[in-house]
Amino acid sequence: MLAVSDYHVAYGQSEVIHNMNFELKKNEIVAVVGRNGMGKSTLMKSLIGVIPGKSGKVLLDGRDISGLKSFQRVESGLAYVPQGRMIFSTMTVKENIETGLTTVKEKKIPENLYEMFPVLKEMKSRRGGNLSGGQQQQLAIARALASQPDVLLLDEPTEGIQPSIIREMAQTLKTIRDQIGLSIMVSEQVLSFALDIADRILVIEKGEIVHNALRESVDEKKIAAYLSV
Ligand SMILES: Nc1ncnc2c1ncn2[C@@H]1O[C@H](COP(=O)(O)OP(=O)(O)O)[C@@H](O)[C@H]1O
Ligand SMILES: [Mg+2]
Repeated sequence: MLAVSDYHVAYGQSEVIHNMNFELKKNEIVAVVGRNGMGKSTLMKSLIGVIPGKSGKVLLDGRDISGLKSFQRVESGLAYVPQGRMIFSTMTVKENIETGLTTVKEKKIPENLYEMFPVLKEMKSRRGGNLSGGQQQQLAIARALASQPDVLLLDEPTEGIQPSIIREMAQTLKTIRDQIGLSIMVSEQVLSFALDIADRILVIEKGEIVHNALRESVDEKKIAAYLSV
C-alpha cells in the first residue's frame, strides 16, 4: 500500500531522514520504534506532506504522491494522527470529527465510525478538551478515519496515556484494521505496545532504519536495547 524508497528529508541544510526504504503492505500494521529525536515525527510529517521530502519516492497503492500537497494525499487515501493528538479542545466531539471530512467529498460522518468508538457517540456533544487522554486519542483517530483512508499514519499514540488504556488501544486498532481493511504505520517508544499491535517492527536510529523484523521472529532484547538510552 505504501512504498518508500531512497527517501531523504531535511530541515534546511540539516538532513534528518537518510536513504530510507520500507514497505507497508495491505492490512499490515508496522511499528516504527526508536528513541526521542530519531526522526519518527519527521518521517510521518513528510509522508503526509506537512514538511517536504528532499528526494526519493513515496508510492501510495502504486501512485507516486511525493509531489502532492497534504490535502491531496488525504484525498488519495492517506490519513495522519499527529503526535500530541492536536484535537480542537473548544469544539465538540462531533465537530472535531467533521473537520476530518473537509478534504473528502463525503459531508457526513461515516455510520461505522461511532460503532468503532462507542464512547465518542456518548460524548458527541461534549467539548474535546473535556475528554480524558485516551478518549482524545480515540477522537484524533476517528477524525483521521473520517476520510475513509487506506493507510493510517499514527505518531506516538500512547504518549501520556495510562497502561491499561494503551492495551485497549492496541486491541481497538487491530479490530478496526480487520473490519475496514486498513494499513497502519505507527511510531512508538513503548515496546510492549509495538509488540502488541504490530505485524512487523522497524527500528529507526538517527533517521535510518537499522532493523526490520516480522513480529513472530522478533528479538525483543535486541529491540529493547535500541530503545534504552
Ligand atoms: N522543525 C525542525 N527544524 C529543525 N530540526 C528539527 C525540527 N524538528 C525536528 N528536528 C530535528 O530532527 C530530529 C528528529 O526529530 P523528530 O522527528 O521529532 O524525532 P522523534 O519524533 O523520533 O522524537 C531531531 O534531531 C530534531 O531536533
Ligand atoms: Mg516524535
